[in-house]
Order: sequence, then C-alpha cells, then structure tokens
Amino acid sequence: MNQLRKIMVTCALPYANGSIHIGHLLEHIQADIWVRYHKMRGHEVYFICADDAHGTPIMLKAQELNISPEKMIIDMNKEHQRDFANFHISYDNYYSTHSKENRYFSELIYNRLKKHGFIKTRIISQLYDSVKGIFLPDRFVKGKCPKCKSTNQYGDNCEVCGAIYNQIDLIEPKSVMSNVTPEIRCSEHFFFDLPYFADMLYQWIRSGILQEEVANKIQEWFDSKLQEWDISRDAPYFGFEIPNTIGKYFYVWLDAPIGYISAFKNMCNKNQTIDFEEFWKKDSDTELYHFIGKDIIYFHGLFWPAILHGSNFRKPDNLFVHGYVNVNGTKMSKSRGTFIKASTWLKYFDSDSLRYYYATKLSSRIDDINLNLEDLVYRINSDIVNKIVNLASRSASFIEKYFRCKLSASMADADIYNYFIDSSEGIGKYLENREYHLAVRNIMNLTDIANRYIDEQAPWRIYKQEQSSTRLHAVCSMGIHLFRIIITWLKPIVPCLSKKVECFLNTELRWNTIHKPLLNHKIIPFRYLYKRIEMSKINMLLQASQEEYEGNN
Ligand code: MSP
Ligand code: ZN
Repeated sequence: MNQLRKIMVTCALPYANGSIHIGHLLEHIQADIWVRYHKMRGHEVYFICADDAHGTPIMLKAQELNISPEKMIIDMNKEHQRDFANFHISYDNYYSTHSKENRYFSELIYNRLKKHGFIKTRIISQLYDSVKGIFLPDRFVKGKCPKCKSTNQYGDNCEVCGAIYNQIDLIEPKSVMSNVTPEIRCSEHFFFDLPYFADMLYQWIRSGILQEEVANKIQEWFDSKLQEWDISRDAPYFGFEIPNTIGKYFYVWLDAPIGYISAFKNMCNKNQTIDFEEFWKKDSDTELYHFIGKDIIYFHGLFWPAILHGSNFRKPDNLFVHGYVNVNGTKMSKSRGTFIKASTWLKYFDSDSLRYYYATKLSSRIDDINLNLEDLVYRINSDIVNKIVNLASRSASFIEKYFRCKLSASMADADIYNYFIDSSEGIGKYLENREYHLAVRNIMNLTDIANRYIDEQAPWRIYKQEQSSTRLHAVCSMGIHLFRIIITWLKPIVPCLSKKVECFLNTELRWNTIHKPLLNHKIIPFRYLYKRIEMSKINMLLQASQEEYEGNN
C-alpha cells in the first residue's frame, strides 16, 4: 500500500468581473482530475478555490452595470459556482476574497511583514485620470513605447519589443477609459521588500521541484534583479483598506493569494475535523500545490513564497503550471465565437466531452493547448462511443439475454485480466505526474486489446454453435471485466460517464479493488451510457458564442 498523504490543491482564483470560459476550464479540469485521482487512491485531499473579487477592473465593471461591487461579486460568485458544478469540478470549498477571513489574514500577514521591517513606504508619481477620478492601472493606459516607440502599448510593458517600463515613461499616454491625457500625481505607496528574500527564493527555484520551463522563467526575472513590490493602491479602490492608513488599499494581488488561506480557513470553520494549523504552519508535513496558468507565474513564483516565508506560513510544495487554450489553432476570440463560456458549451455539448478532450492534450509542460472542435467530436465518438461504450454493450447484450444479468463464476482469460491490472500502476503514475495524454493513450491501447479479444472470441459465433454455453458466458463476462477496469481508470476524467457505469455495473468503481474481478456478480440491464455527439453542433456553438458578445464590444 502506498503511504497516505494530506494534500491541499488550489486553482487560480478567477476574477469576479467575467464569466467562466473554456480557458479557465482547462485549469479547473486539470486540477480536478488530479484531485479525483488522489482521492480515489485514498489520500486526504482538499480542493479549494474562490473568486478574486477586488481591484480597479471590478470596481469599474460594477459602475458600468450601475450596481454596487458587493452585489456584483455575489451574483458572479453564484454563477461561477454553478458553472464549475456543471463541469463536475469537485471543490471542497469555493469562497471569495471579499470575506472576513480574508481581511483577517491579509491584515495579519501585513502586520507581521511590517513588524519584521519588510514593508517600506515611498512617494511615487503615477498617471491620474481626472475625468474618471482614479489613478490608472497599467492596463488602463496606452501610449508609445519609450524604447522602440511602437504605438498603442500598455503602461507596463511593450508587446512589440518586450521592454518593461514604468507607466509614467509612456510617450503620449492616454487613458483607455476616457481617452484624456492623464496628469502625473504623486502619492505615498507601500512596498514589500522582495529583494530581501532573494537567497531563500533562489534555493526554492533551484531545488529541482519546479517544471524546468517554470524555473527558467523565474530565473530570468532573477537575473534582471528583483525589485521592491508596490502593494498599495489609492482610493477609490475596491478592496481592503490598509490598517492605520487613510485612503490606502491593499493591491488586489496582495490579498488574492491570501484567499487560498482564507478559503481553507472558511472550510475549517464549517468542518471542525480539519486542522487549519496542520496545513498552514511553517514546517507543515502536509502538501500544497497551486494549479495556475503561465501568465501568473510571476506572482506565484516570487511574491507569494516570499510573503509566506516572511509572515511565518508554509510555502507551496510546487506550482503546476499549464499553457493557454487556443481554439482551432488561434487565440480565443469573441468576434470569431471562440471565446466560449462554460454555460454556452453546455447548451451544445456535455461536460465529459471537454474533460476527456483536454485530458488527451494535457501534459506536465506549459505549451499552449489547441482545442480543435472537429477533432474533439471525432475523438469522443471514436474513443468513448465506438471503443469504450461499445465494449460494454456488445458484451452486456448476451449477459442480459441468456444469463439473467449475472456475470460468470470463473474468468475466461486470467492472463489478459492480469495484464490489465499490471498496467494500473503505470497509468496511475501518469495521472499523478499530470501526463494525462499518456494515461489516456495507454488506456485506449488497452481498450483496443479488449475489443480485439471480443472480436477474436466472437460471442455471436459461439452462440450460433453452442447457444448459451459456459464459454459464451465467460467470454462476455470477460468483456465486462475489462470494461470495468477501463472506466475505473477513466473515472477521474469522465465523472458523469463513470457514474452511469457504476449504476450499470451495480458497484462502485474503486482503484484499489479492481484486481478482484466481479465473479458471479449481478449487473443492471444495459441502457445507453453515452450519446454520440454531432459535428453539426460546432457551428451552432460558435454562432451562439459570437452572438453573446455582439453589441457588447
Ligand atoms: N485573479 C487572478 C488569479 C489570482 S490567483 C491568487 C487571475 N484570474 S483570471 O480569471 O484571469 O485567470 C484565472 C486562471 O485562468 C489563471 O491561471 C489563468 O492562467 C487561467 N486562464 C485564463 N485564460 C486562459 C486561457 N485562455 N487558457 C488557459 N488558462 C487560462 O489571473
Ligand atoms: Zn517597444
């Protein structure tokens, strides 16, 4: 038996100003498969997420909708939770960063950092939009790159030459919102002393746990020298006010990751058997993993471990970073209808189809993932319907008709059965290491072997020759035994299908008991387990998705 572990897993907290889309879902599906697999193996796993509810874009979005940010984030939270539930993302707690727990931990961490001298203050100049009455975040100002002079560049970096600069160095800056030329205003800001943690971070990065591409990326920032990090924003801002200041707020990226801690704490409040301290104390023996996209490595690979270290909390054991979703070979686009919301997807396709398809594409690397919709329809019909479900239906029909739904008392081919069981650990390792594409490929190869067995044994021929013989019974039962193993492996990937199969096989699919065949076992009459999906739905999906944004942009 493998040793039982205590693990906490998170996904990045989605912003509360937009709907969940198929890009987000890649991450939540990737993490959910990992969590479900580890739970199946008996580990104690807590899967946590929350909405990231603070910041200027959220404040402005609420203004645009003419409602309070508080109301907007509550509505959005409900929608996000509904979408994740519909994709069977099995969160143990889904919370919000705009919560009393998060205020408590943000203040606690800030006060600890301050006490140790890691918070500095400095006056800085910033661009101020006097029409809107706000200091402009980098993404709300555009101008010419100070280095290469390309036009239409944001306030933080140039997409043409890659230069990183300060927003006040932009040439001919314009506010994205009001199109006025912003003024330069001075104000006191609070900074976190990131450079102090350089040695600790260097060790963390070089310890060999991180994905190589991730370690290299962080190394680049290291080489260009760590800077103090601005953690405050001036009013008006939607967030938590910094203790003992007036009109100064925590920058959203300070309290957002603290949301991992507070969402966990909120779960502990609801379930007193979970020990908060055990998971978050400095030398915790439990494990902590963050699933994130490659765009936010910076925050999770530098600031977050430094903040945790500086405030006496445990650090993550690893970051599991993934690439971006492209649709049909290009970036998701609202005008092309490929910026597909979770809820729109479900009007035309089911959740298992997206989960399975992503699994066939996911690896431990951070390359982008291409969602090719035709390929998806083809893969689902070919793998799930023609190979997997067909294996069950062609065997079940005989069992039902001639053997009163009961599987045979002895096994027709122990060698094949054992060959399958021997493959189990390898498939498990692929799931554990997030090499889902290899797990699926392996499972499909074994499914081919199972179907070939039925083709060769040809139960329809046996029936012609021997009617309902013991051999016919054993051969068809064998098909069901192998089917059961296959769906058990796939259970973390396709939870809906597995649930139906559990009903059909009249047993719970458990990883640790598949070595025991279901001899003499009663199953339920076969009903359809998975419906073929239709190519014609693709255009309907894209069109519906496009229409949702028309007039909106
Ligand atoms: N709120 C921050 C995260 C704070 S974590 C303390 C944020 N939110 S987000 O909504 O923009 O993104 C949430 C996650 O979804 C990120 O990990 C991001 O990489 C991922 N994705 C967003 N769009 C994506 C794709 N098109 N493809 C794959 N992942 C994508 O960042
Ligand atoms: Zn440039």
